[in-house]
Amino acid sequence: MKMFDLTGQKAIVTGVGSPRGLGRSIALGLREAGAKVAVISRSARVFDIAREDGFLAGQADLTDRAQLEQVFADLVAQLGTLDILINNHGMTFVHEAESVPLEIWDRMLSTNLGTVFHLCQLGGRIMLRKGYGKIINMASVMSFSGGNKIPAYAASKGGLAQLTKALANEWIGRGINVNAIAPGLIETEMTEGIKNNPARRDYFASRMPIGRFGRPDDVQGTAIFLASHASDFISGAIIPVDGGFLSS
Ligand SMILES: NC(=O)c1ccc[n+]([C@@H]2O[C@H](COP(=O)([O-])OP(=O)(O)OC[C@H]3O[C@@H](n4cnc5c(N)ncnc54)[C@H](O)[C@@H]3O)[C@@H](O)[C@H]2O)c1
Repeated sequence: MKMFDLTGQKAIVTGVGSPRGLGRSIALGLREAGAKVAVISRSARVFDIAREDGFLAGQADLTDRAQLEQVFADLVAQLGTLDILINNHGMTFVHEAESVPLEIWDRMLSTNLGTVFHLCQLGGRIMLRKGYGKIINMASVMSFSGGNKIPAYAASKGGLAQLTKALANEWIGRGINVNAIAPGLIETEMTEGIKNNPARRDYFASRMPIGRFGRPDDVQGTAIFLASHASDFISGAIIPVDGGFLSS
């Protein structure tokens, strides 16, 4: 449908370092809708994925500000401009609050929140100049719920939801939609630990009325929707894609 058509749009998707992660599925969805897509990851696997799927690619540890600026500038130069920015990269770590090393707290907040602000600032500047853009941040059901033994992750994703709303308020009047997707449990490398831990697996299974965990492709449609004209009147929304987790 034309409303969802991304022909000619230029997109960057971060966190595309796993062949079965959310980032790759989203990047493929944008490409199929017509966009030219550049992908970023800390992992060198980003180049294999890009070769296979026809994306531009850059490798960077986004917590390093110089690397972030360099990879972003390189990819925008290759794309020619930027219409769609999907901040999908992220990390998690299960730990008890009383014993977690503060370095992990710092790394989590930097990876899941600080780098996203930096990317939004760089992408926003380009989009503000042309009065058009779509920014989509990858939040989580843990943007709403505190979870269990993931205080740094929950804090980072809660902050990401607030950042999304704050930027949305500043920029919607200037042509930029900033929204977020909040996935429930999706089967990827990140959630292998949950699947292999019976107590955690059963907790999530009991809270998913749909009766199964998610697959990366379950998130693809919402990403295309938020990247397209179909979502032009949506601003600051944190959209759960969770098989019913939050309503259970
Ligand atoms: N899988 C789930 O159940 C789930 C649920 C809610 C939210 N999310 C979020 O979705 C996003 C994608 O998760 P996924 O499950 O596909 O995990 P994943 O581990 O497959 O993907 C995360 C990607 O981020 C990249 N990355 C991490 N730190 C980076 C850094 N400093 N610099 C550059 N790249 C970095 C990794 O290399 C990897 O490619 C994450 O933000 C995650 O928090 C996932």
